[in-house]
Amino acid sequence: MQSVGIKGLGYYVPENIVTNFDLEKVVDTSDEWIRTRTGIEERRFAAEDEATSDLGYKAAIKAIENAKIDIQEIGLIIVATATADYLTQPTACLIQKKLGLSKIPCFDVGAACTGFIYALTVANSMIKTKLFKNILVIGAETLSRIADMKDRNTCVLFGDGAAAAVVGNVEEGYGILSVSIGAEGEDDMVLKIPAGGSKFPNNERTIENRENFLKMNGQEVFKFAVKVLPKVTLEALNQAEMKVDDLSMIFPHQANLRIIEAASKRIDFPLEKFYVNLNKYGNTSAASIGIALGEALEKGLIKKGDNIALTGFGGGLTYGSIVMKWAY
Ligand code: UT7
Repeated sequence: MQSVGIKGLGYYVPENIVTNFDLEKVVDTSDEWIRTRTGIEERRFAAEDEATSDLGYKAAIKAIENAKIDIQEIGLIIVATATADYLTQPTACLIQKKLGLSKIPCFDVGAACTGFIYALTVANSMIKTKLFKNILVIGAETLSRIADMKDRNTCVLFGDGAAAAVVGNVEEGYGILSVSIGAEGEDDMVLKIPAGGSKFPNNERTIENRENFLKMNGQEVFKFAVKVLPKVTLEALNQAEMKVDDLSMIFPHQANLRIIEAASKRIDFPLEKFYVNLNKYGNTSAASIGIALGEALEKGLIKKGDNIALTGFGGGLTYGSIVMKWAY
C-alpha cells in the first residue's frame, strides 16, 4: 500500500495580539495567574471582519504553495473546527469558494481540539483507498467569538488561528505510520457551549445566563488530558512498533503547559522535545497542532525522515495521536 503523508503545510494567525495585561483590564485576572497556571502570555484575536473561513483560507493558500501542487489537484476539503462561520453550512464549502474551486466535495469534522488529528485520519484512509489523490485538511478557529469575556475561568485560555495541510501520497516508508483515536462521550457540561444547538435553542434566558458562550469544567478536562495525552501517544507508538525514544519531537495540543509537563514525566520524554508555543497563541483548539508544526518547520526543527507524534485531546471528550515519518 502506498504511503500517505503531509506534502505541504501552512498556518496563519491574526495580527491582533492580546496580552495577559490586556485581559487584566477586562476580567478579574492577572498576568501572574495566567502564566503560572497555564503558560500562556498572549494570544491572537481575529479582526471584526475575519471569520474562521478567512483564517482557514489564508493557511490553505500557504499549504498549497508549500506542497508545490496545482490547486486544481485538490480533490476534497476537510475542515476541523468548533467555531464554524455558520451553524449549518460547512466552513469547508466557504473555503472552497474562496479558493475558487468548484464541485469538489467539502465537509467539516467536529471533534473539538482533536479535530486536526481526526481530519488527518479521515484523509489518510481516503487516500489509501484511492478515493482521492490530494486532500486539503484545515484546522481553523475563532474561539474569541465563543469565549465569554466576562468569565475569567475560560476567556484567558483561548486564541484564534488556522493551519492547513495538503495530504497525499509520499515516498514509500514516509508519512503516517500509525493512528490511534478515541473518545469518552460525556454530557455533563465538561466542555461545551450549552445553548444555541438543537437541545437548547437560544432564547432570552440562555442569552441572559450567557449560555451561548463556551463553558468548561477546567479541572475535569485537566485530569482527562493528563491521562490521555501520554496514553494515546504510547498507543500510536506501539502500533508503529516504535518506542518513545524513536521520536525526535512530540506536537501536543497546546492547552496548558502543566499538562505537557505532566505528560513529559509520565512517558519519560524530555520537555524540550515537546513543541510548545501556547505562550504566544493560547489554546487554538483544532488549529493548535498544525500551527505548532508550521512554526517548527519554519524554524528548521523538522527534517525529512524525523519521526514525530501529533497528539490532541479536548471536547467530547475526544483524543487521538498520529505517528509520522516526516516526508519532506
Ligand atoms: O482545549 C481543550 C482542553 N482544555 C484544557 O485542556 C484545559 C484544562 N484545564 C486547565 O488547563 C486548568 O484547569 C485551568 C487553567 C482551566 C484552570 O487551572 P486550575 O489550576 O485547574 O484552576 P482552578 O480552576 O482550580 O481555579 C483555581 C482558582 C479559583 O479560585 P478559588 O476558588 O481557589 O478562590 C478560580 O476562581 O483560580 C481562580 N481562577 C482565576 N484567577 C485569576 C480561575 N481562573 C482565573 C483567572 N485569573 N483567569
